[in-house]
Amino acid sequence: MCGIVGYVGKEPALPRLISGLKKLEYRGYDSAGLAVFDDKELCVIKQAGSVNGLETTTQKLCRPNITAGIAHTRWATHGEPNETNAHPHRGCGNGQACKIQIALVHNGTLDNFETLKSLVLKRGHVLRSETDTELLVHLIAEVYKDDPVLALRTALQQVQGTFGLAVLMAGFSDRIFFARNGAPLALGLSLKGNFIASDPLAFRFYTDRMVNLEDGNLGWISGSDYQVVNMNADKVENEVETIPWSLETAEKGEHDHFMSKEIKEQPQVLTQALRGRLLDDGTVKLGGLDSHQELLRMMQNHVFVGAGTSLNAGMISKIFFQELAELSADWESASELANQKRPIFPVQTAFWAISQSGETKDLLDALKTLKQQDLPCFGIVNKVGSEIARLTGKGVYIHAGMEIAVASTKAFTNQLVTLFLIAMYLRQIRGLPKINWHDRLLADLRKLPLLVTEVLNRENEIIDAAKRYAGYPNFLYLGRGVNYPVALEGALKLKEIAYVNAIGYSAGEMKHGPIALIDGGFPTLVIAPKQDDYYSQITTNIQQIRSRRGRIIAVATDGDDEIKNCVDDVIWIPQIDYYLTPILAVVPLQLFAYHIARLRGLNPDKPRNLAKSVTVK
Ligand code: AGP
Ligand code: GLU
Repeated sequence: MCGIVGYVGKEPALPRLISGLKKLEYRGYDSAGLAVFDDKELCVIKQAGSVNGLETTTQKLCRPNITAGIAHTRWATHGEPNETNAHPHRGCGNGQACKIQIALVHNGTLDNFETLKSLVLKRGHVLRSETDTELLVHLIAEVYKDDPVLALRTALQQVQGTFGLAVLMAGFSDRIFFARNGAPLALGLSLKGNFIASDPLAFRFYTDRMVNLEDGNLGWISGSDYQVVNMNADKVENEVETIPWSLETAEKGEHDHFMSKEIKEQPQVLTQALRGRLLDDGTVKLGGLDSHQELLRMMQNHVFVGAGTSLNAGMISKIFFQELAELSADWESASELANQKRPIFPVQTAFWAISQSGETKDLLDALKTLKQQDLPCFGIVNKVGSEIARLTGKGVYIHAGMEIAVASTKAFTNQLVTLFLIAMYLRQIRGLPKINWHDRLLADLRKLPLLVTEVLNRENEIIDAAKRYAGYPNFLYLGRGVNYPVALEGALKLKEIAYVNAIGYSAGEMKHGPIALIDGGFPTLVIAPKQDDYYSQITTNIQQIRSRRGRIIAVATDGDDEIKNCVDDVIWIPQIDYYLTPILAVVPLQLFAYHIARLRGLNPDKPRNLAKSVTVK
């Protein structure tokens, strides 16, 4: 969600700022802006709409030899997405209230917005925008004497909420000031100048040396130096790290969209998730959990926490843990859990925080609630070193590689395979006998990447189906058991990128309400793998829909002639163990949504109103 990039150095700043913003576009935004020192004068350009638009305006208005600036893509939380509310924000100009001219960009939200707003107005400041961000400018400019970092420290003490800030201050044209609390920020270091960004992707083209900032850090960068302090003004020495990934991993390559690239990467990243973890003798090795075996052996109850797609993975994992590891398990939506006053769980409960980005605010808030009660939390995270990975401090990375498309695809299947391995691992370390079909199950697990490739090779059939259904405004997605959350996930994909109303439901619940929707214009997509324990029940659902003249698409197992005769369309998947069917069944649903979005003339990588990392409440 939203992005910050700043550069100060010997080279032209504008191309660095614009290319940085373009790299962060995938996160979702609604307006963009930048501030530069043009001949030591602070100059702000901002507008609603795209970075391309901002680039054109900037080329017209700015001299090319500018060497310091900050830029922002905003995802509106306080106030409409228009030019006035876009960042950077400035203070009261020459007014008494603001002692220095400032341009500031902000990621995050202020929780005590109303209190701060009345405070600022009472002290005579004039507000131009509806944003929470603008208050920060007034607060900082008001307390400024002669030390920008001191002004930041003093002002930010009054602020509750999350912020990643980059600030230009008049009179300091060779510096960018920054502060961080709960919203990611990193410094990029190079011989030709230094960067600040909310994601190192913004400066990766120029350097692979970076410093990750921690909450409570603030300071400045210049073209050749930087300084980080904490809120007590003590100097902080954060490690200089080498970014371990190359820029190519963040490029589309020959694919039309990141979403299609990421769907197609699934065989390869599933292999990555299994590598070194599923040993030849059938044991599971998970380095991230080995040193916590004692703790894990004591845990009789497990709760999965996440949002969106990650929550859907948690719902399936509940069944993995219950049925494969013989443990009590449940799931909680992160946003609901975060709001519970004092959630009560059975003693010996472990929590599994599932997140692709590792930045989701709802999940971070839920984790903070759990940590306050000293409850053990493990991270199932994709982004290495992210906030959630750091806050949990223990867990297993899913190794899906960088996921750029807003709609999560490869992270979901890697979350599933990782949580499946964890279920097997917990069974193993608790000394339970192997499940009866252990060898067969693991053989299927090993075959997964190959079988996903087979599904991907059938893309043309899915395109044909998408063509037949692209005109329908509503869909019902049904599944049972491990495939009920797959129905939720398939419906989520269609909603978010094709803007088609799709309701995911447990097939058993259909007769308790949604069946009223069914008619010839309301198709149902049924996930009905043959070896599914629920197969006969699902076929009953199919009959019920048919009797109401509903059109049906089934995701079914190769060779299932029975189903072929009673549905309108079939999307075939290869045979696999019941517990692994979600990983095969979800792939055609991802492709189905992707192609329907394309057929409807939409860009699947840039769904409206959505952001890749949801870093606000
Ligand atoms: C997935 O397609 C969605 N865009 C969204 O639901 C996402 O899964 C959710 O916001 C959680 O994100 P996370 O995994 O990065 O925590
Ligand atoms: N809360 C701020 C606003 O609405 C910042 C949003 C963002 O992180 O982009 O302007």
